[in-house]
Amino acid sequence: MENKENNLMEKIISLAKRRGFIFQGSEIYGGFSGFFDYAHYGLALQNNIKNSWWKKFVDSRRDMFGMNSSIILNPNVWKASGHVAGFSDPTEDGKQFNVMFRTEVGAGEEATLSYLRPETAQGMFVNFKNTVDAFHPKLPFGMAQIGKAFRNEIAPRDFIFRQREFEQMEIEYFVRPDDWEKYFEYFRDEMLEWMESVGLDMGKVHELEVPDGDRAHYSKRTIDFEFDYPFGRKELFGLAYRGSFDLNNHKLEYQDEESGEKITPHVIEPSFGVDRAILAVLLSAYNEDDPERPFLKFKPSIAPVICAVSPLLKNKPELVEKAEEVFGKLKAEFGRVVWDDNGNIGKRYRRQDEIGTPWCVVIDFDTLGEKGDELKDTVTVRDRDTGEQERLHKDKLVEYIKAKM
Ligand code: GAP
Repeated sequence: MENKENNLMEKIISLAKRRGFIFQGSEIYGGFSGFFDYAHYGLALQNNIKNSWWKKFVDSRRDMFGMNSSIILNPNVWKASGHVAGFSDPTEDGKQFNVMFRTEVGAGEEATLSYLRPETAQGMFVNFKNTVDAFHPKLPFGMAQIGKAFRNEIAPRDFIFRQREFEQMEIEYFVRPDDWEKYFEYFRDEMLEWMESVGLDMGKVHELEVPDGDRAHYSKRTIDFEFDYPFGRKELFGLAYRGSFDLNNHKLEYQDEESGEKITPHVIEPSFGVDRAILAVLLSAYNEDDPERPFLKFKPSIAPVICAVSPLLKNKPELVEKAEEVFGKLKAEFGRVVWDDNGNIGKRYRRQDEIGTPWCVVIDFDTLGEKGDELKDTVTVRDRDTGEQERLHKDKLVEYIKAKM
């Protein structure tokens, strides 16, 4: 069992490299432990995942304010947040090692020790007052940020699961203290709903109530959403109740503009790792029911490529010309459309299967009308999941794909 599962990680890692999703960082110099680079298709997948998150948690709401804060903050932020004192992991000899990356800001004697942010959260807390002053939100409201975070992990491992540079999508949701349980439950459901929407295998997602003593220094209650990775059941995302810990430490409060009432809101924090989302999506999508034809069963909404267009033969100008016309139309409509004329048609299908492209469109001699008018201007559309092909008029393609999506 273990071997089969390890094998699965190896297959995913090798597919990610072969098909241009994710490369090892600084590979030509032997790599650098804990750092990875997203290539063309991995980046498209990443963008689609981030966009779907932003759409659900920010754009479709009226109570959420986006943020893109700096990565290096005044070091006093990390003292106040408790990270300088407490953001540590034990090393093998039992000593505590602070996992924040240190950096120097400024030159020579004047240089100030600072840190690369280990969570995006603090960049939002320190802008709490500015946000309230700029947007005048009523409680409850939230701030949301997608961005890089850095941790000098003692043992980075398992591909993009535990890295030293990674990305987070975080919400700090500010509520009246008495309301925290209600919003904790609410975001628990929202998180699950989003996970399902991007195609996670929900049978592999589990909730863990993190016990006293195991929670982060700021948290009064945490649920870890765990995922059954091939290397074990491990954390995917977290939902924390941070109470008034952060706003208190930064000496921030909220004043209701109508009643004049001053309160320190409590915080519910849904926190998502982008890279863990990507790994879980890849693992959920990987299908090798037919070992000869492994494919990534991405939902079309997040697939890096929606459709590939091919002329049956690339040395027949009439086919190429017709295929170019179809390609241009689909590209203008969907953007994530590729031209694929490399190798024979079987090879192209195998390649697009591994990229997770839901539909391949092939322009052949029938399209040119060589078998009569009935088939003229029809193309073959091949479905990734079933491998089945159907013939369709080229002008019906956009409608067809839209309906399927
Ligand atoms: N602001 C709360 C916070 O940072 P966390 O549980 O330490 O909480 C949140 O991190 C999420 O960030 C995790 O659930 C995970 O998805 C992701 N994450 C944390 N450390 C990571 C690492 N070293 N590599 C990749 N993702 C990581």
